[in-house]
Amino acid sequence: MNFHEEEILGKAYDSRLMKRLLQFLYPYRSKVTLAVGLLLIAAIIQLAGPFLTKIAIDRYIAHGNVHGLKLIAMIYFAILGVQYVISFVHQYLTAWIGQNVMFDIRAKIFTHLQKLPLSFFDKNPVGRLVTRTTNDVETLNNMLSSGVVAIFGDVFVLVGIIIVMINLNWQLALLTFTVLPLIIYASFLFRKKVRESYRKIRLRIARINSYLQENISGMTTVQIFNREKKNFDRFMELNNSYKEAHLETIRYYAIFFPAIEIISSLALALILWYGGIKIIDHTLTLGIVVAFVQYSERFFQPIRDLSDKYNIMQAAMASSERIFKLLDTPEQIMVPENYLPLPPAKGEIEFRNVTFSYNGTDNVLKNVSFKIKPGEKVAVVGATGAGKTSLISLITRMYEPTQGKILMDGVDTSRLKVRELRRRIGVVLQDVFIFSGNIEDNIRLGNQDISFEEVVEAAKNVNAHKFIEKHSHNYRHKLSERGSNLSVGQKQLLSFARALAFKPEILILDEATSSVDTETEHLISDAINKLMEFRTSLIIAHRLSTIQHADWILVLHKGEIRERGTHQELLKQGGIYYRLYQLQFNK
Ligand code: CTP
Ligand code: MG
Repeated sequence: MNFHEEEILGKAYDSRLMKRLLQFLYPYRSKVTLAVGLLLIAAIIQLAGPFLTKIAIDRYIAHGNVHGLKLIAMIYFAILGVQYVISFVHQYLTAWIGQNVMFDIRAKIFTHLQKLPLSFFDKNPVGRLVTRTTNDVETLNNMLSSGVVAIFGDVFVLVGIIIVMINLNWQLALLTFTVLPLIIYASFLFRKKVRESYRKIRLRIARINSYLQENISGMTTVQIFNREKKNFDRFMELNNSYKEAHLETIRYYAIFFPAIEIISSLALALILWYGGIKIIDHTLTLGIVVAFVQYSERFFQPIRDLSDKYNIMQAAMASSERIFKLLDTPEQIMVPENYLPLPPAKGEIEFRNVTFSYNGTDNVLKNVSFKIKPGEKVAVVGATGAGKTSLISLITRMYEPTQGKILMDGVDTSRLKVRELRRRIGVVLQDVFIFSGNIEDNIRLGNQDISFEEVVEAAKNVNAHKFIEKHSHNYRHKLSERGSNLSVGQKQLLSFARALAFKPEILILDEATSSVDTETEHLISDAINKLMEFRTSLIIAHRLSTIQHADWILVLHKGEIRERGTHQELLKQGGIYYRLYQLQFNK
């Protein structure tokens, strides 16, 4: 898999992305304004402390004014109190905004994913999409909670300190600033190194995630083929490289932060040395020097943090780029412009010169034309890979034909509202998908219009009721993810009940190829016949019994319709169907 395509190092600030991100903040604009306001107040308060110290020393301590000293101490405490309250509100507020924005973005990604055409999911591995909705969104949260706003605050504090320092004593201020080139150079190095190792971390965790995902879902195969040791070794490789990347980052932090400490101590030493001389000369007061000591401490901290925040911003920009790319993928058009109303159901389906390709080059269906009259039951047969499943995915518009038209009761399906179309068709797929939840939920699939009685009736009709009853909780029996606590036959019966409960006018069934025991086989074929009753049915048949119940048969061969007719007619022709029959059905 190509991870590099996923992890492009971009700018730390991109106004186009930022503009779009700000849209997510818009609903919380009053809270954001409040948070920024509090931040500025907090910054100003930070500046006040050292200044009060200066006054305390020069004005009161130097002249033995105990009363004044008490007063200034009280003001100092009051300010500390205010600072505490402001910090609390500010921190809680930014976190609250961050969490809500994340909540909104996750919701948006999820709804968007649901509207994407299936062809999108053919191209994008699950792991990648999961990363979008979790990790990438989290990176954005980092930016909101400790990135943008905090940078704003840091810069404000920095500028404030510079102004105050220059006003207090410009010579001493310039002296403090002499260490700046050192700090800037160190930050530059740090930023470059850490950026690279952060990139490694993200890349490697993505690898671990997708490897884990594949191994867990393929656990049966892993165990059967004794792949545990080999897969473990591979995992350890990934695990180790992930750890190394983290340690690398930690090393850079361990070098950088103490280095900044030392440089700022150097500045402190300069202040004390020069300030000390000036105090002795009586050209500078003790209070000013003490205030400078305090200011210089507050001065280096935001500088140190800035380089860290630069990385947060850069990661966030990369994440938002990816999130927006996902959000910009065009959704399937559910309601076409100038859509036509779906006429009352008769149940006629027509393919008119339909050609279809998944990838744009290889045609899976070639110039397919046929018409199913209302109420007819048609079986589609063909070798594996002939295009049978593809054929039915086009009817429900899971994919769009490359050429040609599909008509439902005489109307081009591409002019219909997709939901209306799908409501009319009951589909049973080759691979049954079971959601975690109970049996009733899995039949009803959240449709509240289907009563419990209807659920039971559908289950009875397709012979599923019997096995459901055997469970102690009946229809409330919990099913695990993907229905792993059901047998293959049970899953199929359940999917039949699901299709029937929705009372579709048209039935599309992709018969599963998996073989089941004779008794279940009987239950299934009986259920299929019941499903086909009174409705137009298009069935991809693998069972002789199903084919025999069909009015006529379509033979698909390498994407083309090669033969059509009744069972007897086709047998007489002695063509593809005859051969298929000999191989597959004549057991
Ligand atoms: N195919 C594809 N992309 C998909 C699904 C299918 O490229 N998302 C290709 C397959 O590789 C195959 C062809 O489309 O060559 C037809 O696939 P399908 O219609 O699924 O074949 P069926 O006739 O349904 O085969 P089977 O009997 O095995 O279900
Ligand atoms: Mg198939």
